[in-house]
Amino acid sequence: PVLYVLNGPNLNLLGVREPEIYGRETLDDVRALCERAAGDARVVFHQTNHEGVLIDQVHEAREKADALVINPAGYGHTSVALLDALKTLTIPIVECHLSNPAARERFRHRSYVSPVAAGVVSGFGPLSYELAIKAALGLLQERGG
Ligand code: DQA
Repeated sequence: PVLYVLNGPNLNLLGVREPEIYGRETLDDVRALCERAAGDARVVFHQTNHEGVLIDQVHEAREKADALVINPAGYGHTSVALLDALKTLTIPIVECHLSNPAARERFRHRSYVSPVAAGVVSGFGPLSYELAIKAALGLLQERGG
């Protein structure tokens, strides 16, 4: 199977950006962790700071992926366009966050992604990605893939 792992804005600065919240590991570390967690499945890993590019990547996943793990970062709290793009997918979607947005500021409590996600993994740092990948693979197995 092919797993798309999409990352929204500012995650390119992982490791240096608010390390007390997001930790010291870089996005390259997260990518390596995802590849390990995926085992035989192929991981396509993208990061972008641009809403339209993120939407293009969701469209690409629509064509090419068997499951999608997405950390929408700030756009998860704001982007109806991202929700609309995700609604065009029939593959399983797992939302993931390094921090636990529900334990942070109120504006982080709303997610435009959660309504179309099979589930959400938040609050475990890079382990959130590993768990999200395991969840996505589990969903694929349930579907008989
Ligand atoms: C985040 C949480 C979001 O609230 C924030 O805007 C991010 C990162 C996380 O992974 O914890 O950029 O998605």
